[in-house]
Amino acid sequence: NAIYPFYGTRQAGITTPAQDRLHFASYDMAAGAGRDDLIELLQDWTYAAARMTQGLEVTDGGAVGGSPLAPPADTGEALGLPAAGLTITFGFGPTLFSTEDGEDRFGIAAQRPELLTRLPRFSGDSLRPELGGGDLCIQACADDPQVAVHAIRNLSRIAFGRASIRWSQLGFGRTSSTSTSQLTPRNLFGFKDGTANVKSEDTKLVDDQVFVGSTDSPAWLAGGSYLVTRKIRMIIETWDRTRLEEQERVIGRDKGEGAPLSGGTEFTEPDFEAETGAGTPAIDTDAHVRLAHPTVNKGASLLRRGYNFVDGNDELGRLDAGLFFMSYQRSPEQFIGIQRSLAADALNEYIKHVGSAIFAIPPGAREGSYVGAPLF
Ligand code: HEM
Repeated sequence: NAIYPFYGTRQAGITTPAQDRLHFASYDMAAGAGRDDLIELLQDWTYAAARMTQGLEVTDGGAVGGSPLAPPADTGEALGLPAAGLTITFGFGPTLFSTEDGEDRFGIAAQRPELLTRLPRFSGDSLRPELGGGDLCIQACADDPQVAVHAIRNLSRIAFGRASIRWSQLGFGRTSSTSTSQLTPRNLFGFKDGTANVKSEDTKLVDDQVFVGSTDSPAWLAGGSYLVTRKIRMIIETWDRTRLEEQERVIGRDKGEGAPLSGGTEFTEPDFEAETGAGTPAIDTDAHVRLAHPTVNKGASLLRRGYNFVDGNDELGRLDAGLFFMSYQRSPEQFIGIQRSLAADALNEYIKHVGSAIFAIPPGAREGSYVGAPLF
């Protein structure tokens, strides 16, 4: 039963060891809401999030200790449950700073990070607008799904009249490790995922690739990050009819151990020059790990923090399943560059990107202050 501090120079939920469960929600501000509404919402969210991450109710006696004549301040389903490693991470979408037609609703248009714009169109995108975008986001991760859902439910309730959910996603199994102390989990294609992820122990790489630095612009975002979310549908049934050898060729690693096809064990660096005889590269030229690797992406890497999802099934009886991909990076250009290299990815035959969003993740709040305060 881990308890992570809410206040700090960086928000929790980024380098925190990836928990097992996710409830993610993207919100739009209400029409007519103004600057004071936004500031008060961020203050109210901060207060409640700081309490819930410590295993407390939204307010003291919130669930059953209040007036019997009023609806309880806390919805109650987490009463008696531990904090379960809950982290709550807040983000700001491009449309919070100014609407698509340029309206500065909250007086913060001048503060918009230059690189915080809707992601460009990528080859193969099959995006549904109702599964992407948003003015604000909240990522709630915990080791107990009820705790994560309780967090999003109560924060949505607090937002009533000021912001409402635009889209949301439940994730049931982490698909990455963000600490060397964690075992590598598997995604729904059955492969270990997160082997070559940025790990919190590698503080130099974390500073270099994940967090906005003190000399980067804008200054208010220093200690923050950028989050990209991509809802990626997996064509599970096609994958499940694919030979093991082909599955491994597509990823560039073996399925059992997660070792690169150039040899070694899980954490051996892939050797992209290695050949299997007859001049055939051991790791195919369109294998996922080759095209996603920093060596072909100007040294860029990502802190991946995605989750598996199954949202029921479609009308043909196929699982509506996939990977809710999330990555944290110092600049959106890291994701954009890698996703562009992946245009040639052998994996594309088996996946479809259906949702997309980008958020600036402000630095952590000091106790007594609130998340996003440097903006105002
Ligand atoms: C590595 C699966 C989408 C970026 C990997 C690995 C697997 C995998 C199995 C190897 C193990 C590891 O190092 O984690 C998938 C699946 C995807 C997907 C099934 C879609 C459903 C993406 C996307 C991006 C991405 C959209 C970014 C644009 C990376 C990176 C690596 C990686 C940066 C590490 C490469 C390295 O340094 O060796 N992925 N991935 N992946 N993936 Fe993906």
